[in-house]
Amino acid sequence: MSWEESTKQKMLHLQLPTDPRWVNIAEMNIEDILVDHAYCEQKAATSCISLIVNFYDFQEVTEVLTPVVAEEWGHFERVLEHLKKRGYPLGKPRKDEYVIKLSEFVKKGGSRAQQLSEYLLMNALIEARSCERFKLLSNNIQDEELKKFYYELMISEAGHYVNFIELAREIYDKGLVNERWKEWLAYEASVLNSLEIKGDRMH
Ligand SMILES: [Fe+2]
Ligand SMILES: [Fe+2]
Repeated sequence: MSWEESTKQKMLHLQLPTDPRWVNIAEMNIEDILVDHAYCEQKAATSCISLIVNFYDFQEVTEVLTPVVAEEWGHFERVLEHLKKRGYPLGKPRKDEYVIKLSEFVKKGGSRAQQLSEYLLMNALIEARSCERFKLLSNNIQDEELKKFYYELMISEAGHYVNFIELAREIYDKGLVNERWKEWLAYEASVLNSLEIKGDRMH
């Protein structure tokens, strides 16, 4: 099975595809997209570090997420290079409405394992959606260098998606995780639906 096929099976469980107009608007705002993307990578690294620190008692978390921190930070560095090459400054971080809305769905309480599983599923979703968007960018934009970059990131973020979802199934009840994942997918689709299309944002 090709990578594309296996990814489709594993990931395109996302219930709502991105509006195809997004990629065209994004291409016209490539400076904003790069700046927003840089902060997405920073947030991905920060979020993994927080999970490692807050869930120090789950050895699997430290083992799986420590290399992910390094990869996300590597992505951040590479986005900075693309900005520099094009003469764009990093710019200010923006409010990430998509992530704010997703975090409202995190169930509070329950055991530590249950809480951890909620964060892992939220991160898995963000990775899945990012992967879908990188695929769109890679397939549709003209800039050859960025096309290749986004293709590479699509593969890397798909790997992170698998890391998060498998970690959730490992540290908590697999059946409950699978049930909850369906609820997360439905919620994510409703969030996406509620947000206006912004070509200067990754999400
Ligand atoms: Fe990344
Ligand atoms: Fe990632």
